[in-house]
Amino acid sequence: MEVGFLGLGIMGKAMAVNLLRNGFKVTVWNRTLSRCEELVEQGASMGSTPAEVVKKCKYIIAMLSDPPAALSVVFGKDGVLEQMCTGKGYIDMSTVDTVTSTKISEAIIEKGGRFLEAPVSGSKKPAEDGQLIILAAGDKSLYDEVMPSFDVMGKKAFFLGEVGNGAKMKLVVNMIMGSMITAFSEGLALADKSGLSQTTLLDVLELGAIANPMFKLKGPAMIQEKFPTAFPLKHQQKDMRLALALGDEVEVSMPVAAAANEAFKKGISLGLSDQDFSAVYQVVKESSAASKV
Ligand SMILES: NC(=O)c1ccc[n+]([C@@H]2O[C@H](COP(=O)([O-])OP(=O)(O)OC[C@H]3O[C@@H](n4cnc5c(N)ncnc54)[C@H](OP(=O)(O)O)[C@@H]3O)[C@@H](O)[C@H]2O)c1
Repeated sequence: MEVGFLGLGIMGKAMAVNLLRNGFKVTVWNRTLSRCEELVEQGASMGSTPAEVVKKCKYIIAMLSDPPAALSVVFGKDGVLEQMCTGKGYIDMSTVDTVTSTKISEAIIEKGGRFLEAPVSGSKKPAEDGQLIILAAGDKSLYDEVMPSFDVMGKKAFFLGEVGNGAKMKLVVNMIMGSMITAFSEGLALADKSGLSQTTLLDVLELGAIANPMFKLKGPAMIQEKFPTAFPLKHQQKDMRLALALGDEVEVSMPVAAAANEAFKKGISLGLSDQDFSAVYQVVKESSAASKV
C-alpha cells in the first residue's frame, strides 16, 4: 500500500517510520521540510507540498498539531484540496474539534474524495511501538481499506460512526488525562510539603485502586523534576480548551477540567509549552511557593 504522510512531529515521525518498516511505500511532507530527511534516509519519498503528496498517493494520512494547522494544510496554497479527487482518501489523525473535522470532511467529499478522522490515544512510545488506540469516524469503506495501516500503527482501532465522534472521544479521553495529571501533581507537591517521601507515595499509589500506567511512567521523572517531552504541554492545553468548548456546547459542567486547564495555561505563560505535559507539576510547585510569600 502506498500512503502519503503529512506532518512529521513527535507522533507523525514515529507513525511514518512504522509504516516504512512494515513495507508500506510512504511519501512524506512536513512544513519544516528538513524534518523529512530522516524519513528519506529510511526509504521514504518526499513531496515538496501537501498537494504534491496527494497527487501521488491514493491514501493520505495527516498528523498535525492543532485545528489551524489541520485547516491550513487542507485549505492553504498548495494544500490537500488542490489535488483531492475521486478515488482518494484523506485520513486526519490530528487531535482537533468536531467543527474543524467536519469542515475538512465536507471539503474533501465535495472534491469527490473520502474522509476519515482518526485521532489516537497513546503517546510517543506507543506510536514508536505501533501500539496506539485509533478512534476513527467517517467513511466506513475508507476505514476498512486502510485497516492494514491501522494494524501497523495501532493495537486497536474503533469505528465510532459519523465524523465528529472520533474527535469527541479523543477530547473526552484527554480531558480526563489532563485532569488526572494535574491532580497527581498536586498530590506529589502535597506529599513533599507535608514531609512525606514522594517515592513512597508512588509505591502506595501503584498498589492501590488508582494505580495506572501514566502515574507509573511519569511519576519517577516528575519527582526528579524531569519532563522529557512525549506529549507537549501546549497540546494538552489545546485539548483541555477544545474539551471545555465541547462541554459548553452540550451543557456539561466540568469544574475540575476548567481548573486543570488554568494550570496548563499558566504552564504556557511560564515557558513550559514544549516540555512534556507532566511539567504541570512545575506550575503546581510554583503556585505553592508563591502562596508562601
Ligand atoms: N505527542 C503525543 O503524545 C500525542 C498523543 C496523541 C495525540 N497527539 C496529537 O497528535 C497531533 C500531533 O502531535 P505531536 O506530538 O506529533 O506534535 P508536534 O511534535 O508538535 O508536531 C506537530 C506537527 O504539526 C506541524 N504543524 C504545526 N503547525 C503547522 C501549520 N500551520 N502548517 C503545517 N504544519 C504544521 C509541525 O510541523 P513543523 O515540524 O514544521 O513544526 C509538525 O509536523 C496533535 O494534534 C496532538 O494533540 C499527540
